[in-house]
Amino acid sequence: WMHAVNATGAGSSGWTAAILASIVIGSVTLTGSVVAVLKLKGNIGDSRNNRLWHSVTLVTLIAAVTGAVLFATSGSTSPLALAALVGLCLLLGIGLVQPIGGADMPVVVALLNAYSGLAGAATGFVLGNQGLIITGSLVGASGLILTAIMCKAMNRSLPNVLFGGVLGGSDSKASQQDEGEFYDGKVKYATPDDLALLLDGARKVVMVPGYGLAVAQAQHAVKELANQLEGRGAKVSYAIHPVAGRMPGHMNVLLAEAEIPYDQLKDMDAINPELPQADVAIVLGANDVVNPAAAEDPNSPIFGMPILDVHKAKTVVVVKRSLSAGFAGIPNGLFIRDNSLMVKGDAKEVLQATTSAIKEL
Ligand code: TAP
Repeated sequence: WMHAVNATGAGSSGWTAAILASIVIGSVTLTGSVVAVLKLKGNIGDSRNNRLWHSVTLVTLIAAVTGAVLFATSGSTSPLALAALVGLCLLLGIGLVQPIGGADMPVVVALLNAYSGLAGAATGFVLGNQGLIITGSLVGASGLILTAIMCKAMNRSLPNVLFGGVLGGSDSKASQQDEGEFYDGKVKYATPDDLALLLDGARKVVMVPGYGLAVAQAQHAVKELANQLEGRGAKVSYAIHPVAGRMPGHMNVLLAEAEIPYDQLKDMDAINPELPQADVAIVLGANDVVNPAAAEDPNSPIFGMPILDVHKAKTVVVVKRSLSAGFAGIPNGLFIRDNSLMVKGDAKEVLQATTSAIKEL
């Protein structure tokens, strides 16, 4: 330690700033990540409108900044003062992430990833360890780039994500009741046999994977159906939304596992202009990323988030187990569109039944 300290110019203002950065960013990242994991697992709910959390965060932030300034100006390295600062920053991590809700979590996860790199780089300066500085900077920079890309994909600014508290994964009974009324009698149901007949005449088919495809582990089943369709002369592509699933690149990894050729995967900007020409778009366990309210309803909490325009396909078939909402907790008007059909069921089972039915045609 002393060797490292001497090598890094202990006591200099740069060194003190590096210590502070590594304490603040590292502690916030640690507890922020734990809260993010618990939220994604559904162990703790959203409290974005909870004034208590906002007050706790504000007080902790002021105390942490004051502590950091005192530490920097007095040059004190008292273990007690450092422990107090670490404690405050740990609390700050909880307070900052806890109010962020629902569909904004992917951005927060990417940002925390970037923070971990920045904390590592700052620690590298403290210890005079160039390896840590380089790797930490790479992780930090790539995390920040990913964060910026994801904000763009959701059409949100970073401050809006961190402090806006707009979106949320509410699955309260009240919202489920509203959903029942929302869809009441308007959804047109179809069976795998109907889907097979529809696909038999289709020339251009777009598969739209979402979180439910991963839950059902239906990646091999979708490829098998695609093989059948291609054997009949149809062109099959896969529409990839940047925040489909629950982590960056989730759908790409899932489909790669089934060895689906990479050139059939089209990202949102590439596939959207093609969707109006698609005979059938099959939505497989996706929900928020195909919700037309994001483009059409200024009152929707996801208004402004770019979506896959599956509602513009000639026919859109939604495969999911029920009328339940997706991650953002809001109803989806796609299910009651004129050109929309729903095949209720587990994505893998529906796909397998459709493949069997198509083989018999
Ligand atoms: P979601 O909107 O979460 O919808 C997934 C749908 O899958 C659900 O409505 C569910 O309906 C259905 N489902 C679940 N299990 C299924 C199964 N076995 N078979 C068939 N369907 C099943 O998914 P999405 O459209 O992919 O959107 C992702 C959401 O997660 C966005 O709001 C995004 O912001 C958020 N998010 C993304 C990330 C990243 S980085 N990708 C990270 C965290 C959060 P049923 O229950 O009716 O079947």
